[in-house]
Amino acid sequence: MFQTLRGMRDILPDEAERRRSMEAALRGVFSRYGYREIVTPMMEEASLFARGLGEGSDLVSKEMYSFEDRGGRTVTLRPEGTASVLRAAAQAGLCQGKGLVRLCYYGPMFRYEKPQKGRMREFYQYGVEALGSHSPALDAEMLEMVARVLEALRVEDTTLLLNSVGCAACRPAYVKALVKFAEGKKLCRECLARAGRNPLRMLDCKRGECRDVLDGAPEIPDYWCDDCRGHFSEVRENLDGYGVAYKLEPHLVRGLDYYVRTAFEVIQESLGAQDALLGGGRYDGLAKALGCPDVPGIGFAGGVERLLIALPEAEKTPRLDVYVAAAGDSALGEALRLAREMRAAGLSAEVDFEGRSLKAQMKEANRLGARRAVILGEDELKNRAATLKDMETGEQRSVARDELLDAVGRSGKGKNSS
Ligand code: HAM
Repeated sequence: MFQTLRGMRDILPDEAERRRSMEAALRGVFSRYGYREIVTPMMEEASLFARGLGEGSDLVSKEMYSFEDRGGRTVTLRPEGTASVLRAAAQAGLCQGKGLVRLCYYGPMFRYEKPQKGRMREFYQYGVEALGSHSPALDAEMLEMVARVLEALRVEDTTLLLNSVGCAACRPAYVKALVKFAEGKKLCRECLARAGRNPLRMLDCKRGECRDVLDGAPEIPDYWCDDCRGHFSEVRENLDGYGVAYKLEPHLVRGLDYYVRTAFEVIQESLGAQDALLGGGRYDGLAKALGCPDVPGIGFAGGVERLLIALPEAEKTPRLDVYVAAAGDSALGEALRLAREMRAAGLSAEVDFEGRSLKAQMKEANRLGARRAVILGEDELKNRAATLKDMETGEQRSVARDELLDAVGRSGKGKNSS
């Protein structure tokens, strides 16, 4: 039997539904901040990413799905969205003569990484990019939106890690100090190679022995130029004004090479080794490096699968608004009529066709994650009434048939039906 490729997975109906409601919540927050959706192709010229993300990054050197197409071009399945969004914005002239352009996206990304919990070779990212402003107020507004995203998704126990990775003027001095610090230290083979090729990447190493050493490495803030220092303190002032909590993380560098100044990640410890729920930062200069008109930008992206792992169990979306349980054949016709009325009113409803016992039907209602059950027994039929049961609290009461639809509607539409 065929199986999915390693690191790729099918999204089965239960999960597909949870993802859809998460996506709707995300889109709601993004649109309240003025972000509009952009959809770019899943495949681009390989050199877009090589140039954009940095030849020395792990992503470009080891993890890209690149191959030659039938026309002899080297193409890549996109590993992230930022480079594509900048390319698309430049190609369509979206930023020409405009102020701030706010774009959001949602879709699959591909990275040839070693699969583990929260790390796949095909995964979905949601993200935003704001193009056209250097203002630290924009950085802070984006971080405030991140807080609203986490709130809307009901993700708990998260920490926002914040740093500034400096700019072309001040970073070289820091990199030099970092390389000097690493000389003669006991680091893994990969870090030793990174020290020559892309020293900042050493700070990303998760190996215990490297962490012990690198925790004592020089800190970027000690090397900021005046402009970077000023920018960062304004970001912090704004954040404090918004009441957004964060933790300063002076060794945070992020895995891609395009970042300047503000860099951030939201982590949740329960995720284990792959604890980054989302990450982003400012990338002034990336557009120019890609040969596009020079626009500053800032953005972030998060992994959908990690969000699903991070959500509390209780946030599992109930699948069904109403299960209509009928006792006996005579009640089935009435149950079917009721289900049709519920559906016409925008509620999701299911009925048992197999003539099973009421007990078995209630078990089925539970299995389906029904929020309410309407029970139609012989007596209820005779009295033109039904029992309405709240499946979450177990409370039940008798409701007249004519008032049933209203009573179910008033007891709250399901998350799926909004
Ligand atoms: P990134 O940190 O490489 O940044 O990825 C962002 C998020 O995507 C991660 O925090 C994680 O949640 C998720 N992710 C990354 N790789 C995997 C994987 N193999 N499996 C599952 N989830 C994964 C970027 O991609 C930047 N483009 C973000 C950005 C936007 N910066 C500025 N604008």
